[in-house]
Formats: sequence, C-alpha cells, structure tokens
Amino acid sequence: MRKTIISVSRKVEYDLRNDFFAHLQKLPQSFYNTVKTGDLMARATNDLEAVRQVVGPAIMYGANTLISLSAFGIMAYLNVELALLSMIPFPIMAVVVQRLARKLNQKHREIQAQYAEITSKVQENLSGIRIVKAYGQEEGETRHFRQLNEVFITKNLEMAKVRGAMMAIMTLLIGSGSLIILLVGGRQVIAGTLSLGDFVAFFAYLSMLTWPMIAMGWVINLVQQGAASTGRLNRILEIVPEIRNDDRTDHNITGVLGEIEFRDLYFSYNGTPVLKGINLKVEKGSTVAIVGPTGCGKSTLVNLIPRLLEACNGSVLIDGVSVQTIPLEVLRQNIGYVPQETFLFSDKLSSNIALGVDEPAGEEIEKAAEIAQIKNDILAFPAGFETMLGERGINISGGQKQRTAIARAVIRKPSILLLDDSLSAVDTYTEEAILRHLREVMAERTSIIVAHRLSTVKGADMIVFLQDGEIVERGTHSELMAVNGLYADLYEKQLLEEALATY
Ligand SMILES: Nc1ncnc2c1ncn2[C@@H]1O[C@H](COP(=O)(O)OP(=O)(O)O)[C@@H](O)[C@H]1O
Ligand SMILES: [Mg+2]
Repeated sequence: MRKTIISVSRKVEYDLRNDFFAHLQKLPQSFYNTVKTGDLMARATNDLEAVRQVVGPAIMYGANTLISLSAFGIMAYLNVELALLSMIPFPIMAVVVQRLARKLNQKHREIQAQYAEITSKVQENLSGIRIVKAYGQEEGETRHFRQLNEVFITKNLEMAKVRGAMMAIMTLLIGSGSLIILLVGGRQVIAGTLSLGDFVAFFAYLSMLTWPMIAMGWVINLVQQGAASTGRLNRILEIVPEIRNDDRTDHNITGVLGEIEFRDLYFSYNGTPVLKGINLKVEKGSTVAIVGPTGCGKSTLVNLIPRLLEACNGSVLIDGVSVQTIPLEVLRQNIGYVPQETFLFSDKLSSNIALGVDEPAGEEIEKAAEIAQIKNDILAFPAGFETMLGERGINISGGQKQRTAIARAVIRKPSILLLDDSLSAVDTYTEEAILRHLREVMAERTSIIVAHRLSTVKGADMIVFLQDGEIVERGTHSELMAVNGLYADLYEKQLLEEALATY
C-alpha cells in the first residue's frame, strides 16, 4: 500500500506543482500587481503538501480503517449483542469529530494564511535586504517578523489544542467501548453464556478496531486540511488569464512586419485613467521616440504593444490588424523589449543574452553584445561570457545590466524594438555608440524609444511628447523646435544643464 498509494500521491503532487507553475506563467502582469510572491510560494509548498496528504496517507489509512472494520464482522459473528453494545460510543464519536473537524478546518485555513504572510515577509525582506541594511532597519524587520511568527505559533497551538481534544475524546470513547465489554461480557462469562476464549478474542478484535478509529480521526483531519488547501490552490488555478489566445486569434499569422498603430486608445489602472485618446501611427522601419514627464504614461503605452497590458478602449494594431488577432507567441517572439527595470537571471551572461533563442551561436551572442556596447566589458571579466550572475545580476553595474538587457532584445532580431528608458544608466558617449549600432541593425525594423535625455531622441523619425496620457506635440526634432512648445522648452533646459555640468 505504501509503495503504490504513496508514490501515486507523489506523482499527483508533481503534476499539480507543474500545473500550478505553468498556470502562474500564463497569468497577466495585472495579476502580479495584486498578489505577493511569498503568498504564491506558500501555496505552492505548504498547501500542495496538504493536498498530497489527502491523496496519499489519508486514502491509505482510510482504506486501512475500512479493512479493519471487518474485525467488527467477526465480533458480531461471535456475539451480536456484545458487538452492538461495544459500538455505543461510536455515534457519539461521529458527532464530536464532525464538530471538532470543522474547527480544525478553520484553524488550518488561518494557519496557511499566516504562513503565506510570513513567506511574503521573508521574500520581500530578502529581496530588499540592501535597502534594509542601508536604512538600518534590521531590528525593525526582525521585530515585525517576530510578531508575524508569534501569531503563527499561537494559531498552531490553538490548532494543537483542538486536535488534542479530539484525540483525547476519541481515546476516551474507544476506551469506554472496552469498559462496556468488560462489564457486560464479564457478566456473561460469569453466568456461563460466553466462553472465556470468545471473551478474550472479543477484546483482541476490539483492540484491532481501536487504532483504525484513531486513525480515522486523523484522516478526517487531513481531509479537512486538504480541502482548505485545495480551495486556496483553486482560487489561483481558476483565474482565467485575460491575455491569451482566444477566438479572435488568427493562427495563420506567423510573422510581424512592424507597423504599429494606436487608435483612439484609452487605458486605466483600476479606474484611474492613464492614457486618453492616443492616436499614433509608427511606420514600419521608423524610429519613434516618446518623451514626457515621469508618470505621463510612457511605460504603459509601451507595455500595450507586446500585450503585457491590454487596452481598455480603442485598439493597438500591428501591420494593420488588432494585436489580439496575432498569436501571443508570434507577437512576443517578434518584439525585443527592454523594460524600464531590467531583470537578469542568476545564470551565465551568455544565457541571459540568449534568453528565448533556440541554440544560439556564440558569434550571435557576441554580435548582440557588440551592438549593445557590452562586449568589451564582458571580455574584461575573468570568465567572459561564462560569467555567472548573482541574483538579479547583482555583480554587475546598472549600466552593464541595461546593456545586457539590450543585447538580449536585439539577439532575437526583432521586427519591433522597444526601449523603455533603457539608456538611463549609460553615459552619453556609450549611448551614442549604442544608437549608432542600433540604427544599422534596425534599419528595416521598427523602434520605439522612451528616453529622458533628449539628445538620445534627436535623430528619431518622429518624436512624440506625452503629457498626462495625451500626445501634446509630435514631429521631428527640427519641427518641434520650430513650434517652440514644451519639447523646445525641455530641450533648452537640458542644453543649459549640460553646459553647466561641463563647467
Ligand atoms: N501597475 C500599476 N498600477 C496602478 N497604477 C500604475 C501602475 N503602473 C503605473 N501606474 C500609474 O500610471 C501612470 C503612468 O505610469 P507610467 O506609464 O509608468 O509612466 P512613465 O513611464 O511615463 O513614467 C502613473 O501615474 C503611475 O502612477
Ligand atoms: Mg516609465
């Protein structure tokens, strides 16, 4: 039984964990705005384990219990009256167990929720450990953790109390079964209506029933916890990813040429409007720069192109068709996106650059690194492209991270390149070199560049000035300078700043 049932439960756990992870991969960015990583980790570990306990041990001991019930049959065969009398405590037990099990279930749910809190706390603290240290928050953090941990242990102890009460009551009731046999059976033996042998056998059978009855309580406990945990897992698994291929998807589309158009586009985060009536056409092969004050919606606009976000109203068209008709994998395969906040995996530099490229050739990686002006930096590392990065690429500088991310975007030779403020951490000289190289490889392709430094965007085919989610100015650099509006203003200011900085 152990070999079959327990290994089946491990396999169920394996499948469930894979499904859970695969599902998490499909959920949209908006989902991750609302849940904590630690909470998901708690579900993937503790809750999954509780579910496994039902599929494995609970079933095994449950089956065991049923088999042991045959002992009751033998008891009834020996002496019906005595067998029935010895069962008197069991209905009482059923009622008690049912009540306590409900309580256990509720406690278990509270404990799992608290465990999720703790995991979230640890995960957040460790990701932010540098800030914690820089601001001397170690003690405060430790205190806060201790509080959460205290609630956790309190709840666990409460559960132990309920479980303890349940076990005690069950043992008592089962014991009272023995008492009944001793009393009634003993009298029958004295009266000569029951043989001493049967009396002893009776006791033996009853004790065979005792352990399964206790196990039954335990099984009920496991099933209750498993049910609560299944609920917690299902709440995540039942979320249908809003951004996915659906009946609008046209699977005949296998490539992207690169013309982008925003048509009457509106977007809001939870009801707060961020983009209002954007109309913009980006010709295939052109470079469009988006500038504007922070918070005006630049990143949001860029995120709409690979469908990391979905427009509320209006549409985003690529090659003249709505992005929703393009299969997600085709769309994203053809877009090189460098987000405002780069993320590198704790893996080799070469693997970070070649992310998502099947069997990348060494020279391709080097070429991409060269375009992104990171090749020389990488070759200067002792291990070169084989350099292992720490978590989030902790062992390289901010500028190097940005350039690695650019290399990652260009290696896939995308039809559309999106750079969201991706040159902020590199100096102007390197920036110019990157842009020069990009112009070569992107000549046939479309680029959208979000930038703060206006020197970056001067050469763009069109510059769009975004303010409060609306396009207020558009045109080439010289056109916008001629208009003498917001763009010209900002440009003058940046020139002045540069001039001052050189003194
Ligand atoms: N995930 C989010 N949830 C809610 N509001 C957001 C989110 N991301 C950005 N915002 C808000 O949307 C506005 C535009 O943000 P963003 O597109 O990042 O601006 P920009 O890139 O131009 O600095 C800001 O006011 C910001 O506070
Ligand atoms: Mg931004």
